[in-house]
Amino acid sequence: MASNEHIGVFKAITHHRIIIFENFLLYNLLCSYATLEARNRPQKEVNLGGKTKPPNCLITYYGTQIPSETRIIYYQWLVSFVSIAIMSQLSKLIVDSLKAHYITKEGTIKAVDSVSFEIRGHESFGIAGETASGKSTLGLALLRSLQPPGKIVGGNIILQGQNISNMSDDEFNKTIRWKKIAMVFQGAMNTLDPVYTIGSQMIEIIKEHRVDIDQEPLISNSLKQVGLDPSISSRYPHELSGGMKQRVVIAMALLLDPDIVIADEPTTALDVLVQAQIIELLKTLKKERGLTVILITHDLNLILEFADKIGIMYAGQLVEFGNSKDIYANPKHPYTQALIASIPRLHSVHKDLQFIAGSSPNMLELPAGCKFFSRCPFAKELCREDPPQIKLENGFVRCWLYK
Ligand SMILES: Nc1ncnc2c1ncn2[C@@H]1O[C@H](COP(=O)(O)OP(=O)(O)OP(=O)(O)O)[C@@H](O)[C@H]1O
Ligand code: SF4
Ligand SMILES: [Mg+2]
Repeated sequence: MASNEHIGVFKAITHHRIIIFENFLLYNLLCSYATLEARNRPQKEVNLGGKTKPPNCLITYYGTQIPSETRIIYYQWLVSFVSIAIMSQLSKLIVDSLKAHYITKEGTIKAVDSVSFEIRGHESFGIAGETASGKSTLGLALLRSLQPPGKIVGGNIILQGQNISNMSDDEFNKTIRWKKIAMVFQGAMNTLDPVYTIGSQMIEIIKEHRVDIDQEPLISNSLKQVGLDPSISSRYPHELSGGMKQRVVIAMALLLDPDIVIADEPTTALDVLVQAQIIELLKTLKKERGLTVILITHDLNLILEFADKIGIMYAGQLVEFGNSKDIYANPKHPYTQALIASIPRLHSVHKDLQFIAGSSPNMLELPAGCKFFSRCPFAKELCREDPPQIKLENGFVRCWLYK
């Protein structure tokens, strides 16, 4: 018998495809109607109650007579506009009960433990949480790039209606990795090879992903998109500043024109001014290229400024997910509340910063029940049991307080 998980995924895919199909039918119907109407128009002037109307003129809009050809274009524009509006409401990425574990000699580390979320076409997503909470593992799992002893052990990843978690590695490599989802790996700018020029390192990526196109324009275009001069391609990493290197690794991720870029701590180790420039660049790429950015960072402030949706990770679980504005104004999970209270505010009446007492649990010996139990000021006996994921208007919270 199919599990609830499978039924959920099936519904998501079916829903996605039905809307696209309906939209396509609507488009064709309107275009056919407009064409037929245009053909049936009398070719001579007609007398309508004393007023004459020229041929091929179907409608009068604010006193302007619009010819039939224009009307067809008008229909097409209208339907395209509606299509874009509908598509932006569709799910771009659905992650359903994703589990990624490290199976080590010491034991199993559940770095990503039943993580679910959904991002729509026009949204950017930020993942925040303290160190070792599983943020990078989640990013790597989405790109199916976990190395042993890491492994995806359950769940589904649905990209634009297609379940990519059960694809063969070969198919994933050919069609998804770097072409639809790319990643700026944590610390990538420090792993640029010092003995090769930027251009030759970019050529390697193109070759590795078996793209049979002219490499030069692809490289120049990517460098230009991140605000770098294409001549950078002939330079070596040590000849570039930290901010330039970070732009280079973002350009590498953009090389094969992906829909989604996962940026893992792209601003760490950069000074505040360069940090702001990199975030501005990601915002521009989102706006101008329609790129979906998944930003991973321990800096909640940065995410609140950047992302439409945010997810808060704690000990491998997404404990809260929703619109960033809602979460900032009204955080639900006690951990999110503590994180937001710890953000320094310039004009706050509270002079003292709040700190979260205690430390995060050992991932090899996670307690049963709520993982935040030992640090939570609201913990009660019931919290020794696993908290359910409670649905909210635009997201969810994993906490017994809301049951
Ligand atoms: N290759 C690995 N082998 C074994 N355990 C690992 C491996 N990589 C990560 N882990 C463990 O998985 C957990 C999550 O690690 P991850 O790197 O995803 O955290 P993170 O939230 O990205 O942390 P940070 O903010 O420090 O980058 C940690 O307990 C870590 O020790
Ligand atoms: S489930 Fe209980 S211990 Fe966990 S965050 Fe909620 S109130 Fe606190
Ligand atoms: Mg990390």
